Parts: sequence; C-alpha cells; structure tokens
Amino acid sequence: MSAPIDAGAIALLVNAALDEIAAAGSRAEIDALTASIRGKESPLVGRRKDLGSIADAEERKAAGALLNEAMATVSAALEERRGALEASERLAALDADRLDLTEVQVSAMRRPLRRGHCHLVTQTRTALEDVFVAMGFVVEEGPEVETDWYNFEALNIPPGHPARDMYDTMYLDLGEPETVLLRTHTSPTQIHLLERAVAEGSLPVHAVMPGRCYRLDTPDARHLPVFHQIEGLVVDQGITFGDLAGVIETFTSAYFGPDIHSRLRPAYFPFTEPSAEYEITCTICRGEGCRTCSRTGWIELGGCGMVDPAVFEAVGIDPAVYSGFAFGFGIDRCAQMRHGIADMRALIENDLRFVRQF
Ligand code: PHE
Repeated sequence: MSAPIDAGAIALLVNAALDEIAAAGSRAEIDALTASIRGKESPLVGRRKDLGSIADAEERKAAGALLNEAMATVSAALEERRGALEASERLAALDADRLDLTEVQVSAMRRPLRRGHCHLVTQTRTALEDVFVAMGFVVEEGPEVETDWYNFEALNIPPGHPARDMYDTMYLDLGEPETVLLRTHTSPTQIHLLERAVAEGSLPVHAVMPGRCYRLDTPDARHLPVFHQIEGLVVDQGITFGDLAGVIETFTSAYFGPDIHSRLRPAYFPFTEPSAEYEITCTICRGEGCRTCSRTGWIELGGCGMVDPAVFEAVGIDPAVYSGFAFGFGIDRCAQMRHGIADMRALIENDLRFVRQF
C-alpha cells in the first residue's frame, strides 16, 4: 500500500522536516537529520518508489516534480541551518579562547606570585646616582655604540696610541665610513655633554653619567666583559684638584660608610692631566690587609684627574678659561665592595638564590 503523492501530503512531510531542522542545536544533530531526511529510510525518498505505480504519465511527472521540489526545500534548509550552527560554534570557540585579564587564577590564590625586584647592579646604580644628586650633580646618559672619535680621539687617544691596548672591544661593521664600536668606558659621554654645553652655552656642568660598557676581558672574580661604570664630570672656572679629591672623599664615606676612605695615587689617562687611580679602604678587612686587597688594605675602584686641555680643545672650550675634573669607576665593583661579593661573575649568572639576597 502506498501513501498518496499529493501536494498536501508532501507539504506535511516537508513541514515536519523543517521543524526538526529548525530545532537542531548542533552540527552533530544536523548530520543525523541529513541522514534521516535524505537517506534510504527517509519518507520523502520512499515516495520516489511509489512514482512507478502512478499510471498516468502527466500525473507521474507532476508528482515527481513535487517530490523534487520538496527535497530541494529541505536540503536548502539543512544547509542553511548547518551554516548558522557552524558560525555560532566558531564564535563560541573564540569566546572560550578569550583571555579574561581580570581573572584570578586559583593556583595563584593558593600560592601568591612572588613580586620581583631590581637587580643588585641596578640598585647600586640608583644608590650611586642618589649620592651624587644630593651633592648637586645631574644624571646624564650616552649611547653604548660609539664612533672612534667619541670613544678615543676626542679623549686624546689618537689612532695607534698605546692606551688603545687597554681598551680592546668589539667593532661593528655598519658600512659607515667611520669606525663604530661598543664603548669601552663611559668617558665618551663627557664629550657628548661638553659638545652640547658648548652648543647651548650651558657651561658649567656638574654631571654623573652611568651606563654599560664593553671590553674584551676574560671574566674573572673582578672583571666582566660587559660591565657598568659611572662617570663624573665637573667643568667650571677655577676648578682644582682639591675639588676633585673633596668630591671623591665625600662620595666614598657617604656611599660606603664613615670608616671607608679614599686615596688617590698617581696614574695615567690620556684624557686627564694629572691623573690618579681612585682607591678605597678595603671593605672586607676594613684596611687591615686581606687576600681580596692583596694585603694592601686598599681596593681600586677607578680613575680620575683634571680634564686634559686637549679634551677641551676637541670640543671647543678654552682651557685658559675653564678647568675641570673627571672620574670614572665601576658600578659592579661598587656592588661587590659594598656587599662583600667574592666573585663578580655571580652578578651575571642569574642564580635566584644569589639574586634574592639583595
Ligand atoms: N675612563 C677611564 C677608564 O675606564 C676612567 C677614567 C674616567 C679616568 C675619567 C679618568 C677620568 O679606564
């Protein structure tokens, strides 16, 4: 017995299918519906078999057209519903992926995140700046990549000068006509500063210039190939070596403590004349003499001296009118001395047990 293929009966089937399609809530449900509506078991497909039993050719043709149209309608509805479900499932997936920046992680509530702190070298740099700012200095910075002129020539170290031997560094090939290098000390910042002061007519200067420096040194207990210095520069009229010695001694006791003192010993730097080595009481033995200070009771921190007239001339300052002093010493060395760090390499190894002590 076959059911009739008339418009009413087909419309009932189509409407039932459309209701089911509209009610489908997922792509999986649409897949299942597609199979049942278009598959072998489907009532619509089943009706096709009944076409053969319609004797009248015109009637059979009309019934076939009805069935085709019905199948096209439900197929279109299936596709449309599938598209809509796909889109909303994609959106839901995106939503699930979204980061909630206000979310408090349960694990973080159980074990609070540890707040970090500045590295000892940074802390030391800040503390040094504070002492000098309190003494009336301003803080300036210069580039770590320099030309030969700033790192050497303007500092009275012409090409071929033997002093270049103690400042070996890495050279950069930037295709520039000038020689470009990683600065070996913070002294080139003196030149930048003086050039600016001349251009702006803003002499005198009282500045400290901290920053990173590079040398082809093999790391050991007291040397790092990448290290930090703080440079000092005072240029005014009537500045004497006594001013330099006074600033150095005031700084030393202020930063290291009242029982730590400075001494200046004759030395040579091409950009200062006279020049001195700056040493402080050994903070390990307090001057008694120990292994760290080679039993001398003193530790070298850096160099200093009166600005050489050749430096003034390089930047266009009249050495007959102005005089000044400069100093430069290691920030890492200061950290080492103030905190009794036996081996400076600890500063760059990033062992948290070390880093967290400060
Ligand atoms: N720039 C010198 C160095 O690094 C130190 C120094 C600075 C000496 C300023 C004198 C004056 O060796």
